[in-house]
Amino acid sequence: VLIFKKWRGVLKRGSMYLEEETSKKSEMITCIFSLKEEVGALARGLRLFEEKGINLTHIESRPSRMNKEQFEFFISVDASCSQALDEVIDGLRTQISGHVHELSRNKQKDTVPWFPNDIQDLDRFANQILSYGSELESDHPGFTDTVYRARRKEFADIAYNYRHGQIIPRVEYTEAEKLTWGTVFKELKTLYPTHACHEHNRVFPLLEKYCGYRQDNVPQLEDVSRFLQSCTGFRLRPVAGLLSSRDFLAGLAFRVFHSTQYIRHGSEPTYTPEPDICHELLGHVPLYADSSFAQFSQEIGLASLGAPDEFIEKLATVYWFTVEFGLCKQGSEIKAYGAGLLSSFGELQYCLSDKPKILPFDPAKTSLQKYPITEFQPVYFVAESFEDAKERVRKFASTIPRPFTVRYNPYTSSIEVLDNTQQLKNLADSINSEVGKLCEALRKLD
Ligand SMILES: [Fe+2]
Repeated sequence: VLIFKKWRGVLKRGSMYLEEETSKKSEMITCIFSLKEEVGALARGLRLFEEKGINLTHIESRPSRMNKEQFEFFISVDASCSQALDEVIDGLRTQISGHVHELSRNKQKDTVPWFPNDIQDLDRFANQILSYGSELESDHPGFTDTVYRARRKEFADIAYNYRHGQIIPRVEYTEAEKLTWGTVFKELKTLYPTHACHEHNRVFPLLEKYCGYRQDNVPQLEDVSRFLQSCTGFRLRPVAGLLSSRDFLAGLAFRVFHSTQYIRHGSEPTYTPEPDICHELLGHVPLYADSSFAQFSQEIGLASLGAPDEFIEKLATVYWFTVEFGLCKQGSEIKAYGAGLLSSFGELQYCLSDKPKILPFDPAKTSLQKYPITEFQPVYFVAESFEDAKERVRKFASTIPRPFTVRYNPYTSSIEVLDNTQQLKNLADSINSEVGKLCEALRKLD
């Protein structure tokens, strides 16, 4: 039985923003304000804080994505300065004519939660994990194993210190770890030809050829990430522990998949209470090499950016029943494409038996489906195709109440917020150029 109990718990847990978590820990107030890029603008802004005796405990800057002529500043101040901060915010709005977006105080219903604009913003998630890799729960098979716990800390430290653009450190897996991997690899490989979707079966031999997928070798995340980038632009990023649903889904918007690097405890090779490298490499990776599936996953990620908490919960459930436990039609048959299925010998057989209930994938309904946390799923959802699933998620995303539309710019690895005419003109130009190429190619085919 393969169960991701701990992880499921996190998906159901209310998501936290960086700002909220910070404010809970140390009673901080955080806000973002933007200023026109000109000499002395920041100094004038900061003088307002100084005049009111407010000490900034944190400040970061970035070019504004909304307005190319502005810079945004993310600041934290002590909560005891709350009243004085009101006056500073007024001052910023009236005297400096900057935009101010308060993140952690008096959250209004229509406040847009912070989301990463740039792929490097994902570095922030590294230190806002919900638990560290060596913190195991009492029912974890490795709970009393001090050697395993120390090993888990090594993996957690790698991920904690990882920053975008770096090479993912290579790990020398121990003989015992290779043995665990080999057991899982060998068992699952016997089922793939009959149970996995054809996209998985098409990619798997390529992973064996190019990425060191072998029974006696645990592949390296860096090699796999490079392979995925060459296929679909998806990349792996090591993660030190559990991320909130909001953060995890945001990564998908950038075609970044947060992947564990450690392996399950050797005493129970067919069981893991959380995702591990077997689950990531055997379950997820093959599908991220498929362009339709990659687009589908990114669509869920884009839908999550700035979405209210209740929609994050729904999108996390959609993710659960597709990327983790999805089935799809292939000709007259049904096959598995969910990573939770493709990395579980028991559930991969069970899901295609006549025992579970099978329903058509419909995000509006799927997003409300409850699921058990300690046993095989009683219900699975079947997609007609990844293309169809993607269109459905896109339609579902349009029902999310947010005052803007987002688009990923692969050239700059950043999110464009389509809420001003310049952005729309850029988009129109880009579509125009693509349509031109399409017409030319069609002409040449005739
Ligand atoms: Fe997973």
